[in-house]
Amino acid sequence: MSEAKKTIFSGVQPSGKLTLGNYLGAIRNFPILQDEYNCIYCVVDMHAITVRQDPAQLRKQTIEVLAQYLACGLDPEKSTLFIQSHVPAHAELSWVLNCYTMFGEASRMTQFKDKSSKHADNVNVGLFDYPVLMAADILLYQTELVPVGVDQLQHIELARNIAQRFNGVYSDTFKMPEPYIPKAGAKIMSLADPTRKMSKSDENQNAFILLMDKPEDIMRKFKRAVTDSDSRIIMSEDKAGVSNLITIYSLATGKTIDEVEAEFEGKGYGEFKPAVGEAVVELLRPIREKTEDLLKNKDYLESVYREGANKAAYMARKTLDKVYRKVGFVKR
Ligand code: TRP
Repeated sequence: MSEAKKTIFSGVQPSGKLTLGNYLGAIRNFPILQDEYNCIYCVVDMHAITVRQDPAQLRKQTIEVLAQYLACGLDPEKSTLFIQSHVPAHAELSWVLNCYTMFGEASRMTQFKDKSSKHADNVNVGLFDYPVLMAADILLYQTELVPVGVDQLQHIELARNIAQRFNGVYSDTFKMPEPYIPKAGAKIMSLADPTRKMSKSDENQNAFILLMDKPEDIMRKFKRAVTDSDSRIIMSEDKAGVSNLITIYSLATGKTIDEVEAEFEGKGYGEFKPAVGEAVVELLRPIREKTEDLLKNKDYLESVYREGANKAAYMARKTLDKVYRKVGFVKR
């Protein structure tokens, strides 16, 4: 890891379910990113328990996310891949940062408001504190860039405010993180409602494709994908469904939009939709197979996340030591 490389930190929830949208929008670029940046990928199991989780399921899904990241080309020699709860510095820094976060500013987080109304029977303090733990994740590694979707921009802004406040009181301690919107990122929309982003939490199972979906499920979902009455296969603002499928097909096959439009000129959805399905099946096949292989190799996965935690803990400790010293804790 060279000092000149910028650090990217990315947190992923251990829901175990990564979608085609996650892949085409972000994960696909990991192999390129890890050559240019010091990349740190963290499976945020501590964030996950802010809503109720089934323990066996959480454990399983944490490992599944890890295996899928590796299967997508993440190289543990180049990047740091670890599980959040394995590096206690996250909890430790988050306590300190709590004391530099104002109740008012945390109350303004829209995700907290959304989640409190969704989980009205479990509005716990951890849910409220979620963005502070996230700030700790980011600030511990002197992160410069944080790849996130727009829904997380407010949390990055909070992390910046906390960092600025702390730096203001104690002199420069944390680097100022910035949101990173990948150039080559694509926004993949729901197959059931192409005006909305593809999301694994959609109630309609046909709205999203999971990386681990079986070929027959992928084919069925694409055949049912919502398009529009006009049957021409062209990219157009008023044809959200078809445009989404064209984007997916283009990314899956490496063909340009023009090439795709030419390929299906004069043809109908009856031909186009199964073609998109097949392209996606072939795109995801090696990832699914690699993931399945990795999941059989528990020893290897264990060595990856242990080594990752060691690397992460070393980097995190440097920042935490500095913070403890600055706030006036006695060195042990
Ligand atoms: N809150 C992020 C999400 O739901 C996950 C996350 C936790 C994260 N810690 C992070 C993302 C740090 C980026 C950086 O997507």
